[in-house]
Amino acid sequence: MAATVVVGAQWGDEGKGRVVDILAERADLVVRFQGGSNAGHTVWVGEEHFALHLIPTGILRGKKCVIGNGVVVDPHALSEEADNLENRGVSVWNNLVISENAHLILPYHRLLDEAHERSLGDGKIGTTLRGIGQAYADKAARVGLRVGDMADEKEFCAKLERLADSKNQILKQVYGGENLPWEKVCEEYLRYAERLRPLITDTSLLINSALDDGKHVLFEGAQGALLDIDFGTYPYCTSSNSTAGGACTGTGVSPKRIDTIVGVMKAYTTRVGEGPFPTELEGSGVEGDIAEAMRKPGREYGSTTGRPRRIGWFDALVVRRAVMLSGIEELAVTHLDVLDQFEKIPVCVGYEYDGERMDIFPASSAKLRKCRPIYEELPGWKQDTSRAKKFAELPANGRRYLDRISELTGVAVKMVLVGPRRDQTVVG
Ligand code: GDP
Ligand code: IMO
Ligand code: MG
Repeated sequence: MAATVVVGAQWGDEGKGRVVDILAERADLVVRFQGGSNAGHTVWVGEEHFALHLIPTGILRGKKCVIGNGVVVDPHALSEEADNLENRGVSVWNNLVISENAHLILPYHRLLDEAHERSLGDGKIGTTLRGIGQAYADKAARVGLRVGDMADEKEFCAKLERLADSKNQILKQVYGGENLPWEKVCEEYLRYAERLRPLITDTSLLINSALDDGKHVLFEGAQGALLDIDFGTYPYCTSSNSTAGGACTGTGVSPKRIDTIVGVMKAYTTRVGEGPFPTELEGSGVEGDIAEAMRKPGREYGSTTGRPRRIGWFDALVVRRAVMLSGIEELAVTHLDVLDQFEKIPVCVGYEYDGERMDIFPASSAKLRKCRPIYEELPGWKQDTSRAKKFAELPANGRRYLDRISELTGVAVKMVLVGPRRDQTVVG
């Protein structure tokens, strides 16, 4: 597994944290390459529950962890997360390094994210309000501040003052909000700089050297293929490349060095925030009840914002699209246990659009909004899968369900998760 990339194959929250936690056991380096503290990767270690936002999940295995250049770093969120983990006995400060080229999230980005979402009213994206999009916007506009900028106090203050001035003008004149004095932000960030300075380095060099030395590097994706800034359901998506290509641009590792790409998918589908979702079970009555029946065992509440996740049946077109975009070679299917309760399980095998059948996920969100799912029904198993350890221990109809997923996506299912705990993992 010299270089393995783990990515979400749906709309995020597929269980990437759980899968990374398993694969990290054999890794030397675990690397986040995009996104920021909008992510929430949940892992149970024994009776303890951890939700990681910015720090790679490998930290729980005591592995060396890297925050790559493609990540947007909120030093406040990072410090808080690191302190919380240290207080719970997880060593962070000794095991973490941060790319000097990663961009900083400033309080202005969070304020503007909030103000912009508020201004959109019903048309809002439903962001995590962590300032993600605003920070990436500044990166693309080449006005952003980087983690490495914190090395030189004087320069940092000067750059911050310039940026703050334009942000305050937008906050006040466009959104009618309050100004945030740059001096206050500067003082706060210089305190973070003091703490983070020993961790800041050229991480592209570090990761490439590790690969040269034959080390195992695990790239931990955040979000999912359909939230990708280019290929997701734009504008109802995030602001980074959450498909596998992001692992290269977000770390400085060549695509030629990647060995395996693992896609993580739920046995059904969820999303948080707004945007089209063809197989969504919504409304009241029977459909609402089904979603509710899945929400509890699946713990379908956002790990970052606590919002209830929208829930729907498995959509083969979504995962097939993710397989193509990320070059997924193996699938890890999570949350199979949540389907234990059903007599029959619909899976979406096509869309109906404008009276025609479609087998390909459309690139346009406007088109997707008009797509209606075509279902085929598979028999359920009505049996507890949560203790299975091997494929052979799964009920026959459970295996049949997984086989159908493989057929529809063209990719083998190599791992199945049947609960949130480490030992609820089915392989081999
Ligand atoms: P990530 O963002 O892709 O890492 O996923 P999250 O951690 O945000 O969401 C997954 C949620 O489902 C968490 O609450 C996990 O503890 C839980 N979970 C993960 N795998 C399974 C599984 O196989 N079965 C069940 N029932 N819960 C799971
Ligand atoms: P993990 O890594 C699920 C969603 C938000 C919103 C959209 C844009 O835990 O799978 P943003 O704050 O990024 O500008 O929000 O993207 N979103 C996620 N949904 N899982 C995530 O991360 C997400 N990160 C962002 O809900 O719809
Ligand atoms: Mg999550």
